[in-house]
Amino acid sequence: MAAVILQASGLSRAFGGLQAVDGVDFELQAGEIHALIGPNGAGKTTFVSLLSGRIKPDAGVIRLGGSDITALPAHARVRAGIAYTFQITSIYPRLSVFDNVALAVRGGDLAASVMAALRRVGLAERADQVAGNLSYGHQRLLEVAMGLALSPRVLILDEPTQGLAAGEIAGFVALIRSLVPQTTVLLIEHNMEVVMGLADRITVLNFGRVLARGTTAEIRANPAVQAAYLGGDDAVA
Ligand SMILES: Nc1ncnc2c1ncn2[C@@H]1O[C@H](COP(=O)(O)OP(=O)(O)OP(=O)(O)O)[C@@H](O)[C@H]1O
Ligand SMILES: [Mg+2]
Repeated sequence: MAAVILQASGLSRAFGGLQAVDGVDFELQAGEIHALIGPNGAGKTTFVSLLSGRIKPDAGVIRLGGSDITALPAHARVRAGIAYTFQITSIYPRLSVFDNVALAVRGGDLAASVMAALRRVGLAERADQVAGNLSYGHQRLLEVAMGLALSPRVLILDEPTQGLAAGEIAGFVALIRSLVPQTTVLLIEHNMEVVMGLADRITVLNFGRVLARGTTAEIRANPAVQAAYLGGDDAVA
């Protein structure tokens, strides 16, 4: 059995009367690529926002490598090794591509670390461009580079392929594969080809609850998942 690196127990969060995340138990195994899928509004972004500390849970416990981090603020979780990229792009649009990543790097040789992160996502040639002038897809990749520059133990990506051209997706898939097992990846993704091609395991959220968890084959064959997601309007051919 692989070691559990990040774990949530009974994690819950409501917005007003809406139970966005409802008693979720979740385990991320060290070195895996784990996909989090489910219909729009299922609570995926809220769930990873709880893991990253961006928002606080109403109930539940989060552990990183055995330590309870539930009360840690987001910046302390980043220091502890959890990096995440937002679903909504959150780069610094007026700064250069290089400077965006430089803001994330800690210690070591700054320029070398920045360029290494940019090379990994395929943006090295664009280091001097103003970040706001990048295409939307490349801004998402820049965010991934900002996350990588932190040398995280756990990298959480919220819909990173949104806005990438079809021809750029293969490169992204190869990038994610190259990160494991040094980095553990939790990936929210609607593109089922990307999910099925990358994930070791999948957790399916629906109405804030875990509908199913398992290997890609198990999830694909699960009738409840097909009804709620894979067979529905959200399905990606
Ligand atoms: N800050 C907030 N205030 C109020 N309601 C919120 C807030 N954030 C999320 N919600 C609601 O919580 C529910 C879950 O939203 P969430 O963004 O977590 O879903 P999601 O699974 O990430 O969806 P998508 O696939 O569309 O990104 C939705 O009904 C959403 O409207
Ligand atoms: Mg979301």
